[in-house]
Amino acid sequence: MSAARFLAVPFLLSVLAGAAPPPITLIANIPGRSTISLNGPWHFIVDPYETGLGERYYENAKPKDKSDRIEYDFDRSETLNVPGDWNTQKQELFFYEGPVWYQKTFSYRPREHSRVFLYFGAANYFTRVYLNGTKLGEHEGGFTPFNFEVTSLLRDGDNFAVAEVNNARRADGVPASRTDWWNFGGITRDVTLVEVPEVFIQDYSIQLAPGSLSEIAGWIQLSTHPIIALVTLEIPEAGIKKTVTTDLQGRAEFRLPIAITPWSPENPKLYEVTVSTALDTIRDSIGFRAIEARGQEILLNGKPVFLRGISLHEEAPIRGGRAYSPEDAQTLFGWAKELGCNFVRLAHYPHNENEIRLADRMGLLVWSEIPVYWDIDWKNSATLANAEAQLRDMIARDHNRASVIFWSLSNETPVEPARLEFLKRLADDARGLDSTRLITSALNHTQNTGTKRSLTDPVGQYLDVLGLNEYVGWYEARPEDADSIQWSAGYSKPLLITEFGADARFGRHGDAGTRWTEEYQANLYVHQLSMVNRIPGLAGLSPWVLMDFHSPRRPLPGIQDYFNRKGLISNQGERKLAFSVLQKFYRDKTATAH
Ligand code: GCU
Repeated sequence: MSAARFLAVPFLLSVLAGAAPPPITLIANIPGRSTISLNGPWHFIVDPYETGLGERYYENAKPKDKSDRIEYDFDRSETLNVPGDWNTQKQELFFYEGPVWYQKTFSYRPREHSRVFLYFGAANYFTRVYLNGTKLGEHEGGFTPFNFEVTSLLRDGDNFAVAEVNNARRADGVPASRTDWWNFGGITRDVTLVEVPEVFIQDYSIQLAPGSLSEIAGWIQLSTHPIIALVTLEIPEAGIKKTVTTDLQGRAEFRLPIAITPWSPENPKLYEVTVSTALDTIRDSIGFRAIEARGQEILLNGKPVFLRGISLHEEAPIRGGRAYSPEDAQTLFGWAKELGCNFVRLAHYPHNENEIRLADRMGLLVWSEIPVYWDIDWKNSATLANAEAQLRDMIARDHNRASVIFWSLSNETPVEPARLEFLKRLADDARGLDSTRLITSALNHTQNTGTKRSLTDPVGQYLDVLGLNEYVGWYEARPEDADSIQWSAGYSKPLLITEFGADARFGRHGDAGTRWTEEYQANLYVHQLSMVNRIPGLAGLSPWVLMDFHSPRRPLPGIQDYFNRKGLISNQGERKLAFSVLQKFYRDKTATAH
């Protein structure tokens, strides 16, 4: 079908019908698009009383004459780097929670036949965005991307973007008011102008068909409907070139036989994939792997796999603050690989895309989680809608990543009816959005009789895999008590020990019974690892935690200093004794697996 006829159809129909193009949700694969970065210094105004809303800071106004009253001036205000949290960029903002206004001027030359979107990788927590004084919209949630169309608002020449970012904690938020991580505020990930054709490829899913190693199945969604168009899928290395026709909704589904080398941590094989229409072409690197749960086993490409994991926060090594760059990811995942890991639990919120794409390339299986953490306003429908939106966007951004095998709905939530309903809803949503991955949660409520402990949390019925957080030897009992404890799960589903650990200040030494020392932590690991080795059908573990991280709940002077010190590595990259205890355990596991 010629470009002209292709072009005519959608617009003719939509003009005739007077229907505006459907609102664009998240645009997939930003790294594969034509983009203009708006990263770098942005002017900022700290606004604890949110005066800027009433004073309309978003207009970026200047006094018209000597009598005009304008009580702010971005251009003469200091700057913050984007991406980056404000807490570690300005000492005086380390503890600050509240609204901060950001402003960036930039020049732009409009392109013919194209649409433009303003894309944020993330901003914590509640963000209002404006362009040239016009409000684009709002976003709630600190760890998922969002985009707004700006095609009609962009000027040929000078433009200014303003964003109010407010990281105030909210009892009805996700997360709610209490967390054990620092509430880093700001525009914490990339800001990008994304240029796409008038009708573009908005999203696609290209993966192995569930349960198959020799068939791919998926869909391609165009940005506009009603429309019928031809879309071509190419995977040259696998000899795939297939053209399919969309339905009237601009969606094409496909199922094709394919011969591939499956993606695995040992061989993270990625294929160059191109999806194209007459107007738009997008490229991606995709790995093909099968993941499923069978009884108590997790099968990767049809074979049982033991997950040698570690949990980590999205905190930057050495410099501290929210991690965002490929270098941050390289350092963190390099340490995980050095530990002997084939799995990382990214806690407790969706981490940045640089990490996920690096996991694809490095060969690390990923647990990705939304921050339904501890106590949430379970009965509040707005809180549920917020959690559902974060789940939807987490899946939308990463559903083509082979490394991601788990969607985790929550961490350590109380066993009560409203919570059960809430999590059931999220489990149904997740399965509706992506039936190819395993749904899980990190649980910590067990039934204990003497030394027998069983994970019987009712939410287990809605999950494919159970995560168990336990702190024997730290928050309860002594490290050696782990020797007599016998764990079991009330479900014949795969079980992971998703957290255990102990705080130790790097360089603090003493006997194994002295808390806060490296010896105490190493001793705890020795007892924990022999305990987990006795758990029948255990499918893996991800101890807490790779690196010490900032937490407002940890003030102990000279030891914690607002760091959770359960890292196997200090925030300065120093390995503690327990690092080699776990490294040896994984080396032995790998040896026995072969
Ligand atoms: C909890 C929680 C973590 C926390 C850890 C700890 O289980 O999931 O977020 O940091 O334990 O107390 O160190």
